[in-house]
Amino acid sequence: MDSIIPSTPGKFKMEKSSYMHRSRLHSSIAKLTFWSLVFIGIIYIFFFKAPSSYSASLPTDLSRRSLRTYTYGGATWEKRVRSSARIRSPNGVSVLVTGAAGFVGTHVSAALKRRGDGVLGLDNFNDYYDPSLKRARQALLERSGVFIVEGDINDAALLRKLFEVVPFTHVMHLAAQAGVRYAMENPGSYVHSNIAGFVNLLEICKSVNPQPAIVWASSSSVYGLNTKVPFSERDRTDQPASLYAATKKAGEEIAHTYNHIYGLSLTGLRFFTVYGPWGRPDMAYFFFTKDILKGKSISIFEAANHGTVARDFTYIDDIVRGCLGALDTAEKSTGSGGKKRAPAQLRVFNLGNTSPVPVSDLVTILERLLKVKAERNIMKLPRNGDVQFTHANISYAQRELGYKPITDLQSGLKKFVRWYLNYYSVGKKSVE
Ligand SMILES: NC(=O)c1ccc[n+]([C@@H]2O[C@H](COP(=O)([O-])OP(=O)(O)OC[C@H]3O[C@@H](n4cnc5c(N)ncnc54)[C@H](O)[C@@H]3O)[C@@H](O)[C@H]2O)c1
Ligand SMILES: *[C@@H]1O[C@H](CO)[C@@H](O)[C@H](O)[C@H]1NC(C)=O
Repeated sequence: MDSIIPSTPGKFKMEKSSYMHRSRLHSSIAKLTFWSLVFIGIIYIFFFKAPSSYSASLPTDLSRRSLRTYTYGGATWEKRVRSSARIRSPNGVSVLVTGAAGFVGTHVSAALKRRGDGVLGLDNFNDYYDPSLKRARQALLERSGVFIVEGDINDAALLRKLFEVVPFTHVMHLAAQAGVRYAMENPGSYVHSNIAGFVNLLEICKSVNPQPAIVWASSSSVYGLNTKVPFSERDRTDQPASLYAATKKAGEEIAHTYNHIYGLSLTGLRFFTVYGPWGRPDMAYFFFTKDILKGKSISIFEAANHGTVARDFTYIDDIVRGCLGALDTAEKSTGSGGKKRAPAQLRVFNLGNTSPVPVSDLVTILERLLKVKAERNIMKLPRNGDVQFTHANISYAQRELGYKPITDLQSGLKKFVRWYLNYYSVGKKSVE
């Protein structure tokens, strides 16, 4: 049914098409049987498998993606959910962390748990990148008492159930389809997670009592083709360079609506190229490390005008402190209330490092840490979503959240490389 959606095989498991058997249908009897089966199949899919929760409300082809069904519920499951979300410190909060098996989600969940907050994770463990890394992060969190529920943020019934079991005070929304280049391959996954999924989550948050305060991940990519640096929150964000950026920008506008109409307290965080241990394999610092160790050449982009391609790389621990600062300073949601209610809080912050580094310098640092010379292949920056330069102005986050990044690229990469070599047992057995 969903074969019109460009999706990488295996990305979302669909009913196997019975048409590979077509070649075997020689007699008309077999043909009749075949078409009857197709008919029954269609009826079956229509009545029993249609995800009623959102196929009805969001009728675009790109968002009409079957939800994988996960099993949840039951006394044991509820006990695990409650125990994970139980607040263990006097002024603690209870936080639903979406995307908890992701890079940032894992670190934020662990940090919240460490200081005694209640934490429950939610993640669909999709295979955009190696799911075994997500499983390893899950195992790590499990050992510190954080349970990750396996499910999709588009699953309204599941979200409702979670809020029934735990009256979360906060939602840390980090689940998303990340990456800019993959949008050309699978645009539907961006609409599904970053737009439809976000709306579904906000729909639940606005309708539960008490309404939670929400902190969510936007992205520095909303600054798009801007050339005025550093990027400040008030700068224009209406020229995205990728569908990813456009969905993140859409998220900011959607947040404005839910704040305005339903009085939800909302804080958006524009992360600038986050890196560190347990990071994302689709990001340059990660696959450069892998390729350098393998002796494979790496592509380094230069801008069309021979300009430098640079990033404001931000270390994960700094980002985590920014996330916690945002949660701690978030006001309560106010609800839609009467005419006189005070407007609920709506904020957007840059979380960067304020120190852009050329990508070629990143490679030099990696060479030094890995003690391997990289084979560099200098190429023109293709027009497929990446921007030339990012640089955050963080004075607003500094003032409001007490945000202050303290990790330079050199020290941060040292920690990443140490984790990488250990995780992939480089030197002990072969990589892969
Ligand atoms: N890492 C960065 O440099 C960076 C920069 C800017 C913004 N961000 C944003 O920060 C957030 C976290 O990024 P990350 O680097 O940890 O990415 P990540 O891919 O490691 O984490 C996202 C997690 O969300 C899960 N997920 C995706 N769609 C889902 C869905 N529909 N339902 C349930 N779970 C779903 C994925 O399985 C994954 O584990 C994302 O919103 C991302 O767009 C990250
Ligand atoms: C940084 O942002 C603040 C607003 O938070 C603004 O007042 C200041 O001028 C900006 N600085 C630069 C260098 O753009």
